[in-house]
Amino acid sequence: MKTQQSFMPGKVLIDKNTISRRVDEIAQEIANEYKGQDLVMLALLRGSFVFLADLIRSLFEHSMPLTVDFISVSSYGDSVVSSGSAVIEHSHKLKLKGRQVIIVDDILDTGTTLAAVKEHLLKEEPACIKTCVLLDKPARRNLPVTADIIGFTVENVFVVGYGLDYDDDYRYLPHIAELDGTKSND
Ligand code: IMP
Ligand code: MG
Repeated sequence: MKTQQSFMPGKVLIDKNTISRRVDEIAQEIANEYKGQDLVMLALLRGSFVFLADLIRSLFEHSMPLTVDFISVSSYGDSVVSSGSAVIEHSHKLKLKGRQVIIVDDILDTGTTLAAVKEHLLKEEPACIKTCVLLDKPARRNLPVTADIIGFTVENVFVVGYGLDYDDDYRYLPHIAELDGTKSND
């Protein structure tokens, strides 16, 4: 049983139907680009699991077969502020050499995680690595990192739901909500 939360989900920023429509558009975009190619989707645990699950099933609807693997990267713990370093805790098993790779993550925030994962994967000499994030929060970027495919851009606010957590909670929400009390005025 959890003790009293200091933060709670507040305003719904992106509802589930809007997410679903956008995931389908992204799947269409990926299918158009990768049709007939050997595609590996590498999902970052744990925040991307809901997005990945919907995306790969939508890709099937667009006749795009693929292979999935996972990388676990250290998270925020019970903080809403990035630690500024990304530690790869468990790496993928699939061989990537010469293959088309898309890294899938829930949100691109400071850029630390995607930069570290991309550098880690490039050592395996894939044919091409692209990045796909459900959310982009450009206001907090401190590395020159951009994602190739972005679902939605969000303001400088901590968000939860659709796989994204605060202190391991709220991943189950079917929508993206703002975590009350985390909006920054800078
Ligand atoms: P970055 O390394 O700062 O870009 O952070 C990326 C990771 O931080 C994401 O994969 C998320 O797991 C987590 N994160 C960043 N912003 C949020 C947020 O607003 N809500 C929940 N998790 C977040
Ligand atoms: Mg994450």
